Parts: sequence; C-alpha cells; structure tokens
Amino acid sequence: MKYALIGCGRVSPNHLKAANANGFDIVAVCDTDNSHIDDMLDRAALDRDFSDLHRYADWNEMLDTEKPDLVSIALPSGLHAQAALDCIRRGIHTLIEKPMAMRLSDADKIIEEAKNHNVTVGVCHQNRFNIAVQEMRKAIDAGWFGQLSHGAITVRWCRGKDYYDQADWRGKWASDGGTLMNQCIHGIDLLRWMLGGELKEVFGFTERRQHPYIEAEDIGVAVLKFANGAVATVEGTVNCAERNLEEHLSVFGTTGMCKLGGTSANTVEVWQMPHALEDVSGLIEQTENVYGNGHTSLFRDFAEAVRDGRKPYVDAEAGRSALETVLAIYKSAAEGKPVTLPMTEDCASEDFAGRFDVLTK
Ligand SMILES: NC(=O)c1ccc[n+]([C@@H]2O[C@H](COP(=O)([O-])OP(=O)(O)OC[C@H]3O[C@@H](n4cnc5c(N)ncnc54)[C@H](O)[C@@H]3O)[C@@H](O)[C@H]2O)c1
Repeated sequence: MKYALIGCGRVSPNHLKAANANGFDIVAVCDTDNSHIDDMLDRAALDRDFSDLHRYADWNEMLDTEKPDLVSIALPSGLHAQAALDCIRRGIHTLIEKPMAMRLSDADKIIEEAKNHNVTVGVCHQNRFNIAVQEMRKAIDAGWFGQLSHGAITVRWCRGKDYYDQADWRGKWASDGGTLMNQCIHGIDLLRWMLGGELKEVFGFTERRQHPYIEAEDIGVAVLKFANGAVATVEGTVNCAERNLEEHLSVFGTTGMCKLGGTSANTVEVWQMPHALEDVSGLIEQTENVYGNGHTSLFRDFAEAVRDGRKPYVDAEAGRSALETVLAIYKSAAEGKPVTLPMTEDCASEDFAGRFDVLTK
C-alpha cells in the first residue's frame, strides 16, 4: 500500500509511526516548511532510513507524481476539506485528522465524492481504540448497561499562549475553532457513539474566558438530547491551571455504570457492571501524550477496510456527526436557544467569527 502524508507538524509523528507499524510503503510526505519534515522524522525516531523519502511542498504535485493508494491528512483543520477532496477525486483512499472539515456542506461533499470515486474515507477519532473505550463499547453492545439513561464527557485540559503561538491557524474560527472543535471533539464523538448516535436537540454556552489572544471559545458546556431519549452533558475547556487534568467519559444505564478517566479516557475508574472487565489492561493504558495510542489501530483498521471493501471503524459519517454536534453547540450558544438536529441549513465554524471581543495579543 503506497502511502503519503500531508502535513508534518505536531501530530504527524503519530501518523508516520502508525503507517510504519502497519507496514505501509511510506513513499512521500508534504509540508510547506521543510524543517517540519526533519522534526517529524526526529520525533518519530523510527528505526529505518528515510533518506529516500520524497518531500513536497505542494500536495497536488505530490499526489500526481507519487500516485499513492492511501493518504493521511494532518494539516491545519481549515485545510482538511480541500486536501481531502483533492485526494478523493484522484481515487485515493483518505484518512483525515479531526475535525474532518470546518463546514457541514464540505463534510457532505467529502462523503458524496468518496461514493462517486469509490474510495474509503476515515477520520482520526483514534480514542475509540483506547482499550478502556473498547471495553465500554463491548459492554454497550452486549447490553450490560440495560436501558441507557445518560452520559457525560469532560475534557479539562491546559493550553497556554505558547501553544497558540506555535502556529497562526490555532484558535481562529475559520481554521481551527475553539476548544470544543479542537480538543473536545474526540469526547463528543465517543459520547455520540456510546449513547446511540442520533441527536434530537442541543443547548450550549461557549465563552472565551482566559485566552484573549484567540478568536474562539476556551470553555464550552452543553446538554444533548438523543433521539432514543438518553441525555448527556459536555464540558470542554483548555482553562485548567498549569496541567491537563482529565478527559472523563461516563455512561449510566439501568444495570451498569462506567466511568473512564485519565488524561484522554484511557483508564477505567468505575466498572459497575453485571460482568467483569474482559481486558484488564484497559484499567490503565500508558500513553506518551494526550493523543493516546490509537492511531496505529485506526490505521490498521483503515487499511483492512480498504482491502476488504468495508466501512472503516471511524468513517466519514462519524466524523460528520462529531462536526455537526460542535457546530450545533456553537449555533445554540450564539443564538441563545436550543438547536434541533439534524441541522437543516449549512453551518461553518467561521459563521461565528466576531462572537467574542477584539483580540489582544
Ligand atoms: N487526533 C488527534 O489526537 C490530534 C492531535 C493533534 C492534532 N490533531 C489535528 O491534526 C491537525 C494538525 O495539527 P498539528 O497540531 O499537527 O498542527 P501543526 O500546525 O503542528 O501541523 C500542521 C502542519 O501542516 C503544515 N502546512 C500548513 N499549511 C500547509 C499547506 N498548504 N501544505 C502543506 N503543509 C502545510 C505546517 O507547516 C505544519 O507542519 C489539526 O487538524 C488538528 O486538529 C489531531
């Protein structure tokens, strides 16, 4: 499987390591800043020689020259949709970092074009592969929770000015969004996946409390109502003092309750179930950073999905659902009223530009 990577920044070593671990033929990488490619190779620290790796600054040139079978995209979020469509329209299977797009109609275009060109598209919500998360999901599928009542996700992390200063796209409505779109979207994906997928209504508040140099929110809270009657709360923030506190996910049903914690839903804190945990290694899964270990499993599943002609575990529709949820919270917060789902009109993160005060550096 000829593989190429577009975007060689902070998260990219996880892509390279995942591609390598799954035996992909890594032929080319693309970044407008060549020094980022060197940094990525250093940080990935793979035990192989990359001197024959082809480097590009323009992804279209790379796609036409290298003709990869599979591309993963780790560009600034505002560039995901264009890069994905450029890959898909060339018949290339495409894995997109989250959020898959910044605009609902772009997510729709990606889904439609993937069908037209018969290619597989997946989204990097890799936390679904955390061992603890897998255990919770198995319990849901086995019916151990009984009737689902409610759930909650809290993403309580710390991001300071140094983080936002790393790249110009961070914290901007058009290219990144705020903490719900960037950091909390994984948790929102997990919540929707666990509690039944289809949402009926969302109400949210978003604020920018501690980061006057970014455009978008640094704290968002929301309540969600699912079509199956379950309800849930969301709290996502980068306003923790000094360190990441936790990413916690809990689900409650008539016969079971489960609480996952750690910094990225990678430990089992409470397992009150009719049956014991199957994989006890999920009690505490060691990770190097909050990105977790999931990229390797996600890449493996994606390659198998391509080979077997099936949907990947995290498909484009799942990516769209997470995006739609964040946009619905943004809309509700901006309008001060609940938003009904599915959203019937197009919506984009940049529609909320100007919600908070003028930036101060
Ligand atoms: N799945 C996860 O857990 C996870 C973790 C971190 C980031 N992400 C997502 O991954 C994406 C990248 O995040 P990051 O933190 O690595 O960002 P980053 O800014 O560190 O990396 C982006 C890279 O893209 C390059 N780039 C920018 N414009 C380009 C262009 N036109 N052509 C080619 N290269 C270009 C930049 O030079 C940079 O090296 C974001 O969408 C982010 O939300 C996901």
